[in-house]
Amino acid sequence: MKRRTALKTLGFGIGGAVVLTGGGYGVYYAAAKQDTVGRVTFDKALSIPPPAESKVDSTGARVFTLGIRSGRTRFKAGSTTRTWGVNGTYLGPTIRARRGERVEFAVHNGLDQETSLHWHGMHLPAAMDGGPHQTVAAGETWRPGWTIDQPAASLWYHPHVHGSTADHMYRGLAGLFIVDDEDSEASTLPSEYGVDDLPMIVQDRAFDGDNQFEERVPLGGSLGVIGDEVLVNGAIGPYVDVTTGLVRLRLLNGSNARLYNFGFSDDRTFSLVATDGGLLARPWNTERLSLSPGERAEIVVAFKPGERVELRSYPSAYGGTLGRVDGFDDRLDICQFRAAATLSDGADIPASLGVAPDLAGEEVARERSFVLASDRINSRSMAMDRIDFGVREGTVEVWDVVNDNGFLHNFHVHDVRFQVLAVDGGKPEPHLRGWKDTVLLAPGKHYRLAMRFHGHTDPNTPYMYHCHLLQHEDNGMMGQFVVLGEGEKVGAVPQSHHHS
Ligand code: C2O
Ligand code: CU
Ligand code: CU
Repeated sequence: MKRRTALKTLGFGIGGAVVLTGGGYGVYYAAAKQDTVGRVTFDKALSIPPPAESKVDSTGARVFTLGIRSGRTRFKAGSTTRTWGVNGTYLGPTIRARRGERVEFAVHNGLDQETSLHWHGMHLPAAMDGGPHQTVAAGETWRPGWTIDQPAASLWYHPHVHGSTADHMYRGLAGLFIVDDEDSEASTLPSEYGVDDLPMIVQDRAFDGDNQFEERVPLGGSLGVIGDEVLVNGAIGPYVDVTTGLVRLRLLNGSNARLYNFGFSDDRTFSLVATDGGLLARPWNTERLSLSPGERAEIVVAFKPGERVELRSYPSAYGGTLGRVDGFDDRLDICQFRAAATLSDGADIPASLGVAPDLAGEEVARERSFVLASDRINSRSMAMDRIDFGVREGTVEVWDVVNDNGFLHNFHVHDVRFQVLAVDGGKPEPHLRGWKDTVLLAPGKHYRLAMRFHGHTDPNTPYMYHCHLLQHEDNGMMGQFVVLGEGEKVGAVPQSHHHS
């Protein structure tokens, strides 16, 4: 822990040229940007995370059983890699449920240490959130449940143990959680899971000489490990056999730290149809789309019979400090799409998709400001027993968030979806006009985020807000808030966080 702090401090202080290695100082030549274009062989078919099995019990609740365990996974020729997974050895099944449904989970921790599962993007009681206060001890089972009350969206789940989130995620704990509703079911968007509606969990990994994940790379970046291999759904460089003229990709940036700037090898246009919190009001056509860690996007891509095209990440214009070391200049081949000689059609992209965020005209109960710098928010480091503030149930707040030190940061809020009202006083770009729960913070710009807190009051159990660059989060760039009912005051976090 001491060592990581020292390493990071050095990185911040002197621009990443000198780093702490094995026990002394070493020089890292902040050299080579990564360029894997043409070097990825695309020799395995994309694997699709299986739909999570569930049973509807006598009360009508949909019950899922999830087992967290360690194992070994084959990513490359040679040794298998020590990994963690949910109901498998790496990543987890795709959970799917409908708005209005009650869901219940038995989450069994088969590891030899505590972990948790957080439902990222879900509106739910704080005690069910799976954050740092709902850890599951080794060998125990946690049984959260709630009624899904939000529009269709591509959400996800991952561990959230304070101080260990980066390591637990990196070893492989993550999966998608798709919420459906009447509108999404009636939509003509491509929707056959695994055929023309493809989950794509995109992650970078660095492997050592024995094919094990490098959890600590002696590299002076500001972000932790930036891997040079890109995995989709747990495999390096897969291909997809395309059989339909339109394909929907549910992209999740499931990396700890890497920023992706997605695009196709022929610079084709694709349609953004949904962001973190659900469908956009109308599709937006673009050639590039950036996703920072934790963000999701649903895009629809058109294919012509017989063609081949690659999904890539292109250099990004993020700017800021340590750009090259943090991977912003990299160009990476991610996945190859191979269209069949004939393609079936049937799906289309409707001109109008979902409901646009509507908080701009609302009465604002409270404004708050958040300054992110040096692993702190508003100069404070996360403390498990400190609740930073309470919000009033039923009100709309506007949060002004700024990245004040130029390193890569984003901002995620639990429990709610937010509307980006303005970026530095201007209208947000089209890809920020839908519902979001995580937003990339360009250095120095003010993001005004509007959110409504409704239901699920609990003065003693906090929700988190934090940078989703996991090393920053683990280092303390996180805070806690509670949602208060009428007359309630901010309470105190109970001493024991363990469940049995
Ligand atoms: Cu994706 Cu607080 O988490
Ligand atoms: Cu979250
Ligand atoms: Cu950060």
